[in-house]
Amino acid sequence: MDSDFKHHTLTMDNCNFNFSLINYSALFKNCIEIVNKYQSNQNLALGEICRLLNEKIDFYDWVGFYFLNEDQKKLVLSSFSGKPTEHKEIPVGKGICGQVAKTSKSLIVSDVSKEKNYISCDIEVKSEIVVPIFVDSKNIGQIDIDSKKLNAFDENDENFLKQINDLISKNLF
Ligand code: SME
Repeated sequence: MDSDFKHHTLTMDNCNFNFSLINYSALFKNCIEIVNKYQSNQNLALGEICRLLNEKIDFYDWVGFYFLNEDQKKLVLSSFSGKPTEHKEIPVGKGICGQVAKTSKSLIVSDVSKEKNYISCDIEVKSEIVVPIFVDSKNIGQIDIDSKKLNAFDENDENFLKQINDLISKNLF
């Protein structure tokens, strides 16, 4: 045991210090400023929030919003920041996004290679978080974040994204 520990190589890759390195409150304040500034332009506000999160949090490698088309039972990509994706539309139930559309529960997938119901947008992506957006208690869409880092997301990200979604729900809808 002891010798195993001594020979274990410590690199930043096997450390998980996301929480201590991110100032979620400062970023949330920036989101409030964006929403106040672009209140009359929902697309612009969402796009700016995507850009902010993608730029300021190094492991948020793709940030986007999908919204539900209830009649066609599919999610449609709205604003995003990161590599363009082919998956601009996702059927309810398919992939991580589609599962969240169906269950209305946030999903954190620490290793996408182990998730059977997964739609790959970029082979470099290793983990993903999807958090639903509720307007008057109705699930209308979601924020989706991909990371090239394995096991990138935890409950701090989930809480942070829930707050952002509440802010959006109350001010842009
Ligand atoms: N990986 C998602 C698809 C959307 S992309 O990540 C942008 C999924 O499995 O639903």
